[in-house]
Amino acid sequence: MSIYGQALPVSFFGESHGPLIGLTIHNMPAGIHLDTKFIESELTKRRPKSSLSTARREPDPFEIVSGYFNNQTTGMPLTIIIKNTDTRSKDYTPNLLRPSTSDFVAHVKYNGANDYRGSGHFSGRLTALTVILGAISQQLLKELGVTVGSHILQISSIKDSEFDYMVNEELLNSLNACDFPVLNQDVQSKMEDVILSAKNQQDSVGGMIETCILGMPVGVGNPLFEKATSIISHLITSIPAVKGILFGAGMDFVTKKGSEMNDAIEINDGRFKTKTNHSGGIQGGITNGMPIVFKTIVKPTASIAQNQDTVDTNSNKNSTTQIKGRHDPAIVHRAVHVVNAMSAYACLELLLKERSYHDIKRTKKSN
Ligand SMILES: Cc1cc2nc3c(=O)[nH]c(=O)nc-3n(C[C@H](O)[C@H](O)[C@H](O)COP(=O)(O)O)c2cc1C
Repeated sequence: MSIYGQALPVSFFGESHGPLIGLTIHNMPAGIHLDTKFIESELTKRRPKSSLSTARREPDPFEIVSGYFNNQTTGMPLTIIIKNTDTRSKDYTPNLLRPSTSDFVAHVKYNGANDYRGSGHFSGRLTALTVILGAISQQLLKELGVTVGSHILQISSIKDSEFDYMVNEELLNSLNACDFPVLNQDVQSKMEDVILSAKNQQDSVGGMIETCILGMPVGVGNPLFEKATSIISHLITSIPAVKGILFGAGMDFVTKKGSEMNDAIEINDGRFKTKTNHSGGIQGGITNGMPIVFKTIVKPTASIAQNQDTVDTNSNKNSTTQIKGRHDPAIVHRAVHVVNAMSAYACLELLLKERSYHDIKRTKKSN
């Protein structure tokens, strides 16, 4: 299913090499003037530009085709499309399944009827839609006092610093302004070198993204299946190439003791607050008012130009394949914008499951 959500349900449609891709957002609050310049600037950050990314060039001109009238949302389904232009479908051979892409499973599940060109509906191309969804979500979240920001924490073995307790809105906004967001500027060139070196060896590299969300109030989420952690994980792992998510102290929970990992509680200005944030802002599935912090693991790009073993679906025999076409030698530096966008949507969905947008905004104003 390419449909998700209860409060602000969304559906995605289209294929990488079809005529267009698009999304519909249902239950969109009425009367919102969409900041189309902001949507455009968010799309620009995800778009492949340099030799660090695929040579496919898509200008992503989006069109709002329903649910928008007199420069504002009508409250009806909001549909936005992007036409595909720079496709080179001849690069794809349907019978040689490309290892660790969606080819194998899609071929079996859909009896070979799937659109294999550029991975069809599985393609990273559809993440342009996530970025549109995220830009709209960020615009609404701003009114509700919530800010989301992400940086590239690691590419291959090159590491940036982690967010610390000094993280603030200004820092997140400065990351949001960057194409290649990192906390320490000196790691950027090392990360770029490692991507280019993998590319030169007809190989690819993976990495990790770190996200921080500020301004989420205490009490959002539920104790069991609808935890804030479950909803964020569901959405983040829906992004192609994402292989894991770690909240708060992440892998430290494996080796450290309870006495080191517990977040002691104190009263601060009459409010309960934790002294540390190893939990990453969520306890028992419910936000505790601290920054929500998590890390997303992104795998190395599957389509590499080296010779690889596979199966030929025409002959049903073992074979080899050497992938042609234009691919990203790393996905992380593009996915960081997708993860940020999806995180914004996750927060909005979580908040709107508690109360309506206009209701939260009204209460915020009167406080
Ligand atoms: C922004 C972005 C760009 C991507 N570009 C490529 C690519 O060029 N080549 C590739 O094999 N996979 C690419 N992917 C990932 C594939 O879509 C994904 O690995 C594939 O569908 C299999 O899904 P899985 O990795 O989640 O198992 C990209 C993903 C994202 C988010």
